[in-house]
Amino acid sequence: MKAAMRERYGSPDVVELRDVDVPVPGDDQVLVRVHAASVNRADLDLLYPKPGFTRLFLGVRRPRDGRIGCDAAGVVEAVGAGVTRFRPGDRVFADLYPYGLGAFAEYACAPAAAFQAVPDGMSIEDAATLPHAAILAIQGLRRRDGRTPKPGDRVLIDGASGNVGPFAVQIAKHLDTEVTGVSSTAKQDLVRSLGADHVIDYTAVDYTAAGNRYDWILAVDAHHSILRIRRALRSKGVYVTLGGSTSRLFQSLLAGPVVSFATGKSVGMMLWWKPFLAEDVATLGEYYAAGKLKPVIDRRYPLDDVVAALRYVDEGHAKGKVVITV
Ligand SMILES: NC(=O)c1ccc[n+]([C@@H]2O[C@H](COP(=O)([O-])OP(=O)(O)OC[C@H]3O[C@@H](n4cnc5c(N)ncnc54)[C@H](OP(=O)(O)O)[C@@H]3O)[C@@H](O)[C@H]2O)c1
Repeated sequence: MKAAMRERYGSPDVVELRDVDVPVPGDDQVLVRVHAASVNRADLDLLYPKPGFTRLFLGVRRPRDGRIGCDAAGVVEAVGAGVTRFRPGDRVFADLYPYGLGAFAEYACAPAAAFQAVPDGMSIEDAATLPHAAILAIQGLRRRDGRTPKPGDRVLIDGASGNVGPFAVQIAKHLDTEVTGVSSTAKQDLVRSLGADHVIDYTAVDYTAAGNRYDWILAVDAHHSILRIRRALRSKGVYVTLGGSTSRLFQSLLAGPVVSFATGKSVGMMLWWKPFLAEDVATLGEYYAAGKLKPVIDRRYPLDDVVAALRYVDEGHAKGKVVITV
């Protein structure tokens, strides 16, 4: 089969398509013929890798595992002897982030626990856009204690135009909140089209200094210091950042609890991510069926052009999701 692989760290140029053996599923595993995959920021972060200290887990000098790609959707080809949840022909999707990746390939093989059935009425292509980014959006709008934005709350999505942001804007609207989306100039129309009540162009306005205050800020990357963010939060407001530079991440981890304690606000990095949690996948299915959550697909690339797909996202051109068709 064809599979996108890399042997060293670096930009998308380190990726190449190889001919490799089709994996044979172990007792608890499922072999899936991939029909579509999608690109996430995580795919690029794992390529470089960013932040740099993640080499400690991925392999210090070079990656221990050459496979790439988190999000896969396709049809079950074969199952291991111990698998009862799926059988050949079932439509399934997965976030392979915790299972060694491998979505950018003609076949993906992982434990059955990695996969969920694609809901009836959902296209395989749409399914391929959801596992990593839409689950991050759901969980970024829910604190570890279960609190979510309330109807009427003012919610700001910082990074509303990439992978996670468009899902977060739609979910926040579904929760009946007043949504502000932050993006670059060229992507303001996209953010507005998702239902955002207000849009902010980060190249012109710093929302932490604009005088507005929010009940909930979800930042896909920490673009501002926690001390500035504090000023943009209402009393008991919540700020959740999903990622950012090493220094911002350490600031969120170390200063976040102190600022939270001192101000009564909740400020920090999301540490409660549960990839592709079954309950949240079910919720996504309900939102999708009700027409409340529509993946925005910017471009499609065949697997042969996986490097171009990764480059397009890496250079910040994507407006929503980029799908790889297999
Ligand atoms: N916490 C966890 O457990 C966990 C797990 C997995 C992943 N993650 C993280 O989740 C995040 C996923 O983000 P994503 O895939 O949505 O990223 P993305 O697709 O790269 O989107 C980035 C967004 O940030 C905006 N942006 C870029 N530069 C900006 C700036 N200087 N100021 C303000 N906004 C700016 C972009 O706007 P324009 O495109 O309009 O420029 C875009 O909307 C990543 O940070 C990843 O590391 C976290």
